[in-house]
Parts: sequence; C-alpha cells; structure tokens
Amino acid sequence: MALAADTAPTVGALIDALAAELEAARVYFGHGTATGRDEAAALIYHVIGLDHEDPGAYDRRVDAGSLAQIRMLLKDRVETRRPLPYVLGEAWFAGLPFYVDERVLIPRSPFAELLTGALYTWIEPDAVRRVLEIGTGCGCIAVAAARAFPDAVVVATDISAEALEVAARNVGRHGLEDRITLVQGDLYAGVAGSFDVILSNPPYVPERDLARLPAEYRHEPRVAFVSGQDGMELPARILHHAPQYLAPDGWLAIEVGGGAGLLEERFPRVPFTWPEFMHGGDGIALVSAADLVAGLRS
Ligand SMILES: C[S@@+](CC[C@H](N)C(=O)[O-])C[C@H]1O[C@@H](n2cnc3c(N)ncnc32)[C@H](O)[C@@H]1O
Repeated sequence: MALAADTAPTVGALIDALAAELEAARVYFGHGTATGRDEAAALIYHVIGLDHEDPGAYDRRVDAGSLAQIRMLLKDRVETRRPLPYVLGEAWFAGLPFYVDERVLIPRSPFAELLTGALYTWIEPDAVRRVLEIGTGCGCIAVAAARAFPDAVVVATDISAEALEVAARNVGRHGLEDRITLVQGDLYAGVAGSFDVILSNPPYVPERDLARLPAEYRHEPRVAFVSGQDGMELPARILHHAPQYLAPDGWLAIEVGGGAGLLEERFPRVPFTWPEFMHGGDGIALVSAADLVAGLRS
C-alpha cells in the first residue's frame, strides 16, 4: 500500500506499507516476529515508544523525524539481513526487555512461558533457593528465573566472555546484581554446591544443519548453535553431570528443540516430561533429580 507523500502517515498505514516491503524483500522472520506485520509493528512501536496495549496507537501520526529513523533501520534490516532485535539493540523475553547485539543469541526460547508460570505445575516457586542456568547468553533466562523464583539466587554460566558482558549489562538493567552471579566456563566449570533447579537452553544444532539456516541466523554466534555431529553433544554432557549439582528433590529443564526424539533415544531410561506450550515452541525436557539419577544408573 502506497503512502501519501504530503501528510504524516498514521501508525496503522505505516505498518501496512512496511509489512509489504519486508515481505517483498523476503527477509526471514524467526527472531521474535512471525510475519511482516509483526515485524513492521515492532520496529515502529520501538522507535516511537508506543505501548502495545494502547488501543489508539494505530491512529497516531508518525512525525518526519521518526519516519526517517524508521526508514534507516528498515534499510539496515533488509540490506544486511540482521535480525530486527540486533538492528534495534533490544529483544523481549518473558515480558521483559533485554539489550542484545551480535555477541549473543537473540532470545526466543519457550523457556519464557515456563518461567512466567507453566513451570509451577512441577516446581513450587517459594521452595526454590538456588538456580543454575547453563549457557546464559544475554542473561534472559537467568533474569526471568530470578523473577519466577523470588527467594532464589541464580548462578548463570557461559563459555563466551563476550556473551557474559551482555548478560552483565542486562542483569544490571533489571537490578539483579545481588541475586545473579555470572561465571565464565565450560558448562559446570567454576560452579559449586547443589541447586534446586537447573535450566539450560544449550547449543543443539547439528554441525551440518548450520549452513542451511537462513542468512539472518549467520549473524548470531556460532558457539550458541553448534553441538557436534547430531546436536546432542552438549545436552548429553549436561545431563550426565547434572546429578552432581542437583539437590535430591531438584529438577532439570533442558531445551533440545527438534532433538527431542534423539534425546529419548540417547537416554531411553530417563522419563522426560515434554511440556506443551500455548505460545509456540517445543522441545524442552523436564526431569526430576530422582528420575534422572535412576535413569542414568539403569
Ligand atoms: C542457545 S544459546 C542460549 C542463550 C540464552 N540462554 C537464551 O536462551 O537465549 C546457548 C548459549 O550457550 C553458550 N555455550 C556454548 N557452549 C557452551 C559451553 N560449553 N559451556 C557453557 N556455555 C556454552 C553459548 O555461548 C550461548 O550463549
């Protein structure tokens, strides 16, 4: 849809126009938005500072300065194929904003849904005192876990020092320096003690699949994706060592995405639960410490 050149467009008209441009440019939507309209709205609302709950937002006029900025960001998005959250320097997870850049994976895990309530089916939040997150990236799961378990401290690890710089910024942004400790190391390296909950969205992409991903994904750190030939190298290491770090009545939740079948094959005696998600996504395995220990032994 063409915009009139002589009047400031409304937000609604601008969303229509930009959505058409994004679809025509065949950018890939996989980083928090699913369609051209979603992405156009995210861009425009971010620049103008609009509230997604504001019922009158579509009728607002977009001034010339905002329009120029929106056009510049759209050009960056289309020409570089950088995912929109990198272009904006912001991603949303569990209803919270996070600073992001190319040092970290863009948050999009269904862990957001677990940590905003779904996990309470299995875990009593007030009983959780210590949480470990492995592979924290921008810190989104650690921050959401600190919110979900208000009496807990969180230890969050990552092998990437660059990712931890971003995580530190987000921990500070959410005022959680007193409750979240960031540790650089390979999986559990540098971690001590036992935990009521271990959470991880580790790399789980098979090496050969990486080259087949759309251009947008090549802007994300390779270390956030690759996990050996079949994608199970890091999830398997996390599971094998988890009993050393889990409290006797603790729980482990680990994301493996499309690798659910492979995980079941690798660990046939571990009775994983696979929560279903209302807001999309799948592939998070949940298991109690007792079941994990018994399943690994047998
Ligand atoms: C899929 S990303 C998840 C990031 C973030 N937790 C999220 O859900 O958006 C995986 C993260 O694991 C980190 N990582 C990769 N190998 C690791 C290892 N051996 N030990 C610890 N962290 C690792 C990567 O640097 C990356 O930040």
